[in-house]
Formats: sequence, structure tokens, C-alpha cells
Amino acid sequence: MTAPAMVAEFDDVAGWTAEAVAQLGAEHAIPAACRGSASPAALAWLAEACELAPGTRLLDVGAGAGGPAAWAARRFGVRPVLLDPMPAACRAAARMFGLPVVLASGDRIPLRAGSMDAAWCLGVLCTVADKAALLREMHRVLRPGASLGLLVVVVRTPRALAVPAVPDGNLFPTQAELADLLDEAGFDLVEQIDRPGDAPLSWSRRAARVAEVVATRHRADRAYALAARQSESFTRLFDSGQISMQLIHAVRRPGGAHTRGGNVNPSNGDEEFEIELEVEVRAELTLVESSRPEEAAALPASEWLFDPTDVQAEEIELRNLLGAIEELGGLRRGETELP
Ligand SMILES: C[S@@+](CC[C@H](N)C(=O)[O-])C[C@H]1O[C@@H](n2cnc3c(N)ncnc32)[C@H](O)[C@@H]1O
Repeated sequence: MTAPAMVAEFDDVAGWTAEAVAQLGAEHAIPAACRGSASPAALAWLAEACELAPGTRLLDVGAGAGGPAAWAARRFGVRPVLLDPMPAACRAAARMFGLPVVLASGDRIPLRAGSMDAAWCLGVLCTVADKAALLREMHRVLRPGASLGLLVVVVRTPRALAVPAVPDGNLFPTQAELADLLDEAGFDLVEQIDRPGDAPLSWSRRAARVAEVVATRHRADRAYALAARQSESFTRLFDSGQISMQLIHAVRRPGGAHTRGGNVNPSNGDEEFEIELEVEVRAELTLVESSRPEEAAALPASEWLFDPTDVQAEEIELRNLLGAIEELGGLRRGETELP
């Protein structure tokens, strides 16, 4: 089960970020929506290492609010597909960047085997218990020889961290554990760097303005306090040198993952999963449509039971999600190409 602090950090804050960007302007979207602490220098390192190019089909697993994938689309012309299990994060990414977004967990990716040219997974591995399952799924959906770009927080000494010091729900691997996980999932580690460069002020100021608006609006919210505590714990651990941020470039080996008994790269019922997802999104859309925002908007504001503009925005996001699901279904069946 996901820790409440992680839901606050990854879902509530993502939704609030999209609201604040709508108020401040679209130029704030990418810096504010890079939630894995990736700076432009870190993203550029990953993009160059993975040899991203116009048209590269890039899957971003745990894409959050979508900043890194949107950056790669803008700077390198890639065609990203975003995937995240948090609904408000998916809606925030669709709202801010209009990119195809899939609401799913990284250990059950609703895409066909070998359909992606590259994958990113930034700031995600330390937040999941079954890291091997996530890596195996990425191996399955990548074509042989494809690049994997990772931003991973690793712990320097095994089990050295006192439990209260660790942000809720995080399980940091050691460097050696990470190397083993990659190898067992069928990836060759090509290169790794410590301490990606800081962001320039022009970037961090935009992110800070968004954070200020979020704080002003939501400081009293319990989720705000939980998310703030998570980020304070991270800062303390980084400052004390107990954890560090690593950028990694790995390449998918042509063969399968190493087996330790059993089938490690099974076909995962993609179609069933897409259908379930589509049914859920359609149900939510019906609910939103049934609240008839256009009728509410025609009434004087004093008689509104809800804000019709919020509902209309939600309807647009849900239609975006539905479009992405339909498009990915077609791609998986080999009927369509991504735009
Ligand atoms: C620190 S945030 C990083 C977001 C984004 N990669 C970025 O750099 O801005 C971690 C993300 O991992 C996502 N996540 C958590 N568990 C996941 C899982 N099982 N599969 C895929 N993503 C997951 C969270 O919802 C969250 O959006």
C-alpha cells in the first residue's frame, strides 16, 4: 500500500502544481513539474547518453507531473509516453503538456513488448518495494539495444539509516544492489555519474514561484504538511551525505532477463488492463458530464454548488486521457503510430 505521505507528495502536490502553473503561466510548467529533482544539466546528460533524437519513442515510467518528458519532447523532439499510478499526477501532466499519459503502475505496463526505443525512470526506484518487477517490465517493453536512463537515490552504507530519518515509503538501494538489479533484469550498465549539476537560477526561480503559490493556497492542508516533511527528510539525508543522487545509462541486452526459476518476462494481459482503465476513465467522464457544468455556469455565481470551470477543465483532461488510451491500444495492436 502506498504511504499517505507519498500520495500527498506525488498526487496532491502534482495537482496543485498544475493549478499554480495555470495561474502563473506555461513557462513555469517544466521546472515545476520536474519532481524527481532533475536539473536541466541532469536531463541533458540522460538525453545525450540515451542518444535521444527526433521521433524516438520514449517511455517515462513514474513520469509524475511530466516535466522531464515534456523537456525531452521540447529539446530533443522525442515522442514521449508518460506512465504513473497517481491519477492527479496523470491529469496534471495531460493538462500542462497535452502528452499521452497512461495511468498504470510500472510493474504492469500496458504496452506491447519491444514497442519503445528508450525509457526513463527518474526518482522512482527508491519509492517502490519491488524494484526488480519494474525493471523487468521496462526490459519487456524496450526493443533490444534500447537505452534506459535512470535517476536513482542510493544509500551509501547498507541499512545505515535510522527509520525515522527516512522519508515515508522510501527504500533506497545501495550501489551494489542497484547494479545487481539492473544485471538481473537484463540491462548492461554503461555509465554512471554522481552529483548531477545544479539548475540555473532562471529555472529554479520558476519552480520556486510555483512552490510559493502552492504554499499560499494549500499550507493549511494536511497533505501539504506531509509532503513538506518528506522533502525535509530528503534534504537532511542528502546534506549529511547518507544518500546521493546518481544518473545512470544502461542498455537493454538482446536476450531476456536472468531467470531465477519461473518466467520472468511474462505477457501481462495488456489488453484486459487497457479495457479496465478505459472503463474507469469513461465512468469518471460520465460522472463529470452529468454535473452539467454549462448549466451551472449560466447561473449567477452565488448559486453555484461547484465551480463549473474546474469541472470543464477536468472534462478536458479526462478526454485527453481517453485519447491516450485509445492511441496506445492501437499502437499495441500495431494499428497506429504515435503522432
Ligand atoms: C519523485 S517522483 C518523480 C516524478 C518524475 N519522474 C520526475 O522526475 O519529475 C516519483 C514518481 O514515481 C511514481 N511511482 C510510484 N510508484 C510507482 C510505480 N509502482 N510505478 C510507476 N511509478 C511509480 C510516483 O507516483 C511519482 O510520480
